[in-house]
Amino acid sequence: MKNIVILISGRGSNMQALLEANLPCKIAAVISNRADAQGLEIARMHDIPTAVVAHRDYPDRASFDAALAAAIDRHAPDVIALAGFMRILTDHFVERYRGKLVNIHPSLLPAYPGIDTHERALSDGIKIHGCTVHFVTPTLDHGPIIIQAAVPVMRSDTPQTLSERVLHEEHRIYAQAIRWLCRGQVWLNKEGRVSGNRLEQPGAALIFPGLE
Ligand code: GAR
Repeated sequence: MKNIVILISGRGSNMQALLEANLPCKIAAVISNRADAQGLEIARMHDIPTAVVAHRDYPDRASFDAALAAAIDRHAPDVIALAGFMRILTDHFVERYRGKLVNIHPSLLPAYPGIDTHERALSDGIKIHGCTVHFVTPTLDHGPIIIQAAVPVMRSDTPQTLSERVLHEEHRIYAQAIRWLCRGQVWLNKEGRVSGNRLEQPGAALIFPGLE
């Protein structure tokens, strides 16, 4: 069975969704860069080993990333899932885990990389927003895409209501992506693109606000 390590920085709702998704892999550890991350308590309640590698304890990104890599490598993971992990990782770290490191991002990438995705989506007046699971590459929020979910943006939405609608889908697609990775059904190929051997289910078009 494959091993996964989950990295968090805060609330940990995506981590919790993974812990409760009955995945075909062993969740070996949850590691946070903040000792006060709420998700650590949730992991402990699920009897998952936890560790803190506090970025504030390190003088620069390279030394933090080296300490983080040492904590990760203790578990020899096949997959490392960033779940609301809010630190930018060095190229060296990203290259070391090529094909193993995945991230969930609250937008339909390549739109809205970075932070405040829901605020920016609302201010642009887009009608369809969503979330993305992708392999991590050195360019921030830009790696090869494994799965995306799209949601409508309502006239009455606030960043809060929109983020809740997106988060609900994040929990579903992240568990799906990790399931595929653990079963060896998707992978990052030599050309740096996503390959897979699973059937593609037909999906429905999302048109919003809808045709008459
Ligand atoms: C999630 O919405 C996740 O997509 C986002 O942070 C939130 C963490 O929530 N991640 C990023 O913005 C990374 N660029 P959670 O801690 O409840 O999973």
